[in-house]
Amino acid sequence: MRAGLLLLLLASPAVAAPPPGASSCSGCHGAPGGAVPSLSGHSAEDIAASLAAFRTGARPATVMNRIAKGFSEEESRAIAVWLAGGGP
Ligand code: HEC
Repeated sequence: MRAGLLLLLLASPAVAAPPPGASSCSGCHGAPGGAVPSLSGHSAEDIAASLAAFRTGARPATVMNRIAKGFSEEESRAIAVWLAGGGP
């Protein structure tokens, strides 16, 4: 019974749904031919590290420093994992 429940949870479509905030990234990063760098091909570690650097101010930015401050470490990581798995 417990194993069946676990399988049900793993197969749930909610697993593939973007974590809070992740769908907002594509407004800028998914735009073709835009000036914003694409995130496709970036690893989750890459994206999470960039977000952390933007958040602390270690990496200068025009908008990402402000966007990154809106997410906690855990939220940033969840977004990074999701984006690396097929987001924009
Ligand atoms: C308003 C437009 C905008 C939105 C929304 C946005 N970004 Fe960005 N992003 C930028 C710009 C512009 C840069 C280049 C750095 C800068 O000037 O801020 C950038 C840079 C980055 C980089 C570094 C890319 C590289 O090549 O090094 C990462 C990672 C990133 N953004 C992740 C995200 C994530 C994750 C989200 C969603 C939570 C997001 N961005 C939402 C505009 C945006």
